[in-house]
Amino acid sequence: MENQTNVSSPNAASRGGFGSKLGFILATTGSAVGLGNLWMFPYMIGQNGGGLFFLLFLVFTVLFGLPILIGEMNLGRSMQKDVIGAYRDINKKWTFVGVIAVLCPFVIMSYYSVVGGWILKYFFSYITFQDFSGDKSAIFQNFSSSAGEPIVWHLIFLALCVILSCIGIEKGIEKANLIMLPSLFVLIFILAIYCMTLPGAFDGAKFLFVPDFSKFKSGNDIFKILLAAMGQAFFSLSLGQGSIINYGSYLRRKNNIQKDCAMVAGFDIFVAIMAGLVILPACFAFHTPVTSGPGLIFETLPSIFSDIPAGGLIGAVFFLLVFFAAFSSAIALFEVISTMLVDRFKMKRIHAALLVGLALGISGIFNSLSMGNWHSVSIFGMNLFTFSEFVADKLLIPVGTFCLCLFIAYVWKTKNFFSHLQEGASAIYLKKAMSFIYKYAAPVVIFLVFIMGLVSQFQQ
Ligand code: TRP
Repeated sequence: MENQTNVSSPNAASRGGFGSKLGFILATTGSAVGLGNLWMFPYMIGQNGGGLFFLLFLVFTVLFGLPILIGEMNLGRSMQKDVIGAYRDINKKWTFVGVIAVLCPFVIMSYYSVVGGWILKYFFSYITFQDFSGDKSAIFQNFSSSAGEPIVWHLIFLALCVILSCIGIEKGIEKANLIMLPSLFVLIFILAIYCMTLPGAFDGAKFLFVPDFSKFKSGNDIFKILLAAMGQAFFSLSLGQGSIINYGSYLRRKNNIQKDCAMVAGFDIFVAIMAGLVILPACFAFHTPVTSGPGLIFETLPSIFSDIPAGGLIGAVFFLLVFFAAFSSAIALFEVISTMLVDRFKMKRIHAALLVGLALGISGIFNSLSMGNWHSVSIFGMNLFTFSEFVADKLLIPVGTFCLCLFIAYVWKTKNFFSHLQEGASAIYLKKAMSFIYKYAAPVVIFLVFIMGLVSQFQQ
């Protein structure tokens, strides 16, 4: 990275900045596009009634996700600090929001790296021509619930994060994203076209795009789906936690934040739709239930891959790309925590990386075991894995984004906010609307959906 940041805080000059506009957009897109799009989105669609969830996801992404993305980026760029520092320097009392922002990536990583391990395992199975015949669901269930293998893969995935973090990732990740993301886009696009030609695929696309309002049977369902869609939209854009603020702190004054963020959100939606168009049509074509949850891409896709010519190769490439997407996000998550330790506690980078790796290694083992032997250990009716997901995207992320909006509107004040946003932009788009969103619309909606969603979650 080059030193291009505007010097407005004492340490700004030494912090560096993104080398190019494209590099920045790709790195942010790399953090946004991850398991949220490729693994979670399709199964959330499946579990939450298809088109309706998709519609709500779009509404949340555009109406609230995008403004919040812009807000976090702008906060990061104007403060040029780590998350906790950014909040604290504007108002000491709000330091806790920064603390939540660091806690959240930890919770996410504790299951993200378990899933990352599953993906590595599938990738290796394909490149080593392992036998995938037979019942794909049973294969996945046996694997993910066993006590040894998934833990080893989880630890390998985590070790890769630790190693990259020690080496220093900026150059590597910025460059790697330059290759990984465009190839991901192209491949998933081709795969989607292919899946759309399968017999019966059209029903899958219909399921994705056409809302079925009969899913709204009761108030409970409405709020459950609303909370899920909001959590998904914010999770997918990496909001409500430190990473965007962190990235923003490296952003040059020349960048037009609104435009950059719109592109990132656009890419994120694109990849989610493509993932939906690969997996749902395939499910319908192969008569696999779409409601199977977290195992969906591990059960459905191998079925298709074993039925098409050169399926093994396509399988290998697919899981490699999912791995790239997951890994670029995981590194960003990992960095939020380790950078905080380096900045706040003056730890050496390598010590911070090892410590974070150790803590995540242990919590990931618990999460992995909860898919099998420890399945019966339940917290509020969920196993540990589901509970961690719940804490991150239904609890911490809504709280984080809610606080951010209030912070912008009433602590930092929209006037200051917009004067910073103005830098690098010839005009601010939709200023009044954005103001309204930060001050009223977003806090009210997030609060209501959050509370009602929680109530309905626990009422069953
Ligand atoms: N957005 C990522 C995804 O869709 C997951 C994620 C959430 C993330 N928060 C993050 C990634 C923070 C990096 C940094 O998979």
